[in-house]
Amino acid sequence: NGQIRIAPSLLAADFSRLGDEVGAVVEAGADLIHFDVMDNHYVPNLSMGPMVCQAIGPYCRRADIPVPIDVHLMVRPVDALVPLFAEAGASIISFHPEATEHVDRTIRLIRSFGIKAGLVLNPASPLHWLDHVLDELDLVLLMSVNPGFGGQRFIEAVLPKVAAVRKRIDASGRDVWLEVDGGINASNARRVADAGADTLVAGSAVFGGADYREAIDAIRAEAAL
Ligand code: DX5
Ligand code: ZN
Repeated sequence: NGQIRIAPSLLAADFSRLGDEVGAVVEAGADLIHFDVMDNHYVPNLSMGPMVCQAIGPYCRRADIPVPIDVHLMVRPVDALVPLFAEAGASIISFHPEATEHVDRTIRLIRSFGIKAGLVLNPASPLHWLDHVLDELDLVLLMSVNPGFGGQRFIEAVLPKVAAVRKRIDASGRDVWLEVDGGINASNARRVADAGADTLVAGSAVFGGADYREAIDAIRAEAAL
């Protein structure tokens, strides 16, 4: 399966020591830091905003190399937050298409800041959301749980969707990342990677144990098989 990127989700971290938690997963080999933004409107939960994103920036470096912050916006509307997260150091901003009025406009807005743009599809969202915008996207994020909470069970029906999006990306000939988010652990990582994902989000599977490096390595090793 080649090189798989592992993106620990901070939602499962100890928020009272967030900087240290970020530093610990960065040291443990995280390829990206997945930053979940919830607004108690688009999803029934409230998490963190641009000020927290800004605050973790200094901890997102390994041997002086920046580890990108992968912002997952679960908010409605989307556009007003894009400049704030751009300013706060996001490298990727992904959003849910049904949460914005003009999907193409929001993608262009994100890219106008020199940031990678991602579209997020919920388990029940059809792939036709990609029809006219795949050429503008840097990343597709497929949800394998319903957004709003960490620690939920992986929804198996998403696997054929991953395979279908992989086909569309390959046919496009562009280097679009395919990320999967929700309920991923060392027991299902191989199936997700086999279906065509190249980037795996893991919250509770990384922060739930004592040894973050062991957890990240276990997911990476399964995905690479
Ligand atoms: C769910 C979030 C996910 C979640 C992943 O709304 O988008 O990123 O935190 O956590 P786990 O891996 O515990 O499902
Ligand atoms: Zn997420």
